[in-house]
Amino acid sequence: MIAIRKKAARIARRAGRVEGDIEEIDGAQRAAARRACPNNAPWIKSSSRPKRSVEPGSLSDFLAIPDRPLAVRDDGETMPDRVTPALLIRPLGPDAATVDALAGLLVETVAGGGSVGFMHPLDPGAAAAFWRAALEAAARGERIVLGGFVGGELAGTVTLQLALPSNQPHRAEIAKMMTHPRRRGRGVASALLREAERLAIAHRRTLLVLDTAAEEGAAGLYEKHGFVRVGEIPDFALKPLGGLTGTLIYYKRLAG
Ligand SMILES: CC(C)(COP(=O)(O)OP(=O)(O)OC[C@H]1O[C@@H](n2cnc3c(N)ncnc32)[C@H](O)[C@@H]1OP(=O)(O)O)[C@@H](O)C(=O)NCCC(=O)NCCS
Repeated sequence: MIAIRKKAARIARRAGRVEGDIEEIDGAQRAAARRACPNNAPWIKSSSRPKRSVEPGSLSDFLAIPDRPLAVRDDGETMPDRVTPALLIRPLGPDAATVDALAGLLVETVAGGGSVGFMHPLDPGAAAAFWRAALEAAARGERIVLGGFVGGELAGTVTLQLALPSNQPHRAEIAKMMTHPRRRGRGVASALLREAERLAIAHRRTLLVLDTAAEEGAAGLYEKHGFVRVGEIPDFALKPLGGLTGTLIYYKRLAG
C-alpha cells in the first residue's frame, strides 16, 4: 500500500499537485493525481481500494502494480510523463476472444524460442485447441489461468495447476508462464507469479513446484521469487527451434 501511495504521490507531484511528504498523500491528492493523469486513473484508484480477500473458488479481478514502470503505452508510444499504466490481472474464462489472445501469445512465444511445451512453427489452430481445453479445465476448477492485461491487451499469462493426485492436495504447479515480447522486462511475469502464489495460498496450498528449461528458460525469474532449485534433468526436452535442453526443477514453500 505504501508503494502504491508513493507512486501516486510521485505522479501528483510531477503534475504539480502535491507537495510534502510522499507518505502523506490523502484521498484528495489522489483525486488530483487522477485528474492530472487520466491514463493512470485505474492504477491510482487502486490505492484507495481495500485489499480484497479471495475465497477458494470465488476469484475476482484485481489491480497489480508491476515491479518496474511499464513506460510504453498500448499504442507503442512512450508516455509523456513515463507514468505506469495499469496492469490488470484476472483469471481467464473459456470465451473465444480469450482463446484467440492466448493462442497468439503462445505462437509468438514459441517462435521466439520460449520453452513452454511446443515446437516451432506452432499451428495457430493447435494453440487455440490447447487453450480451449486449458480454459475448460479452469472452468471446472482444475487450474487457474491468469491473464495480465495492459490497456485491454493481453500482456502475459501464467497457469496455476490445482488438480493433482489425491495424495498431493497440499501442492500446486506453476506452468505456461509467458510475457508478450513487447511487454518483457517490466515486471509482468513477477506480478503474475505473485498473484498465482496468493491464489495458491487461498486454495490452501503450501507447496509450489515448477520446471523451466536449463537453456533460455526463466530460472532467474523464479530464483528472484524465492524458488529453490532441486536439480537438473539433462536432455529433458527439445527446444522449440531444435536441439535438446535440460530442465531445472524448483519448489517453494508457501506460508500456510
Ligand atoms: C520468462 C518471461 C515470462 C519473463 O517475463 P517478464 O515479464 O519479462 O519478467 P519480469 O519483467 O517480471 O522479470 C522479473 C525478474 O526476473 C528476471 N527474469 C525474467 N526473465 C528471465 C529469464 N528468462 N532468465 C533470467 N531471469 C529472468 C528479470 O531479470 C527480472 O529481474 P530484475 O528485476 O532483477 O531485472 C518471459 O521472458 C517469457 O515469456 N519468456 C518466454 C517463455 C518462457 O521461457 N517462459 C518460462 C517457462 S518456465
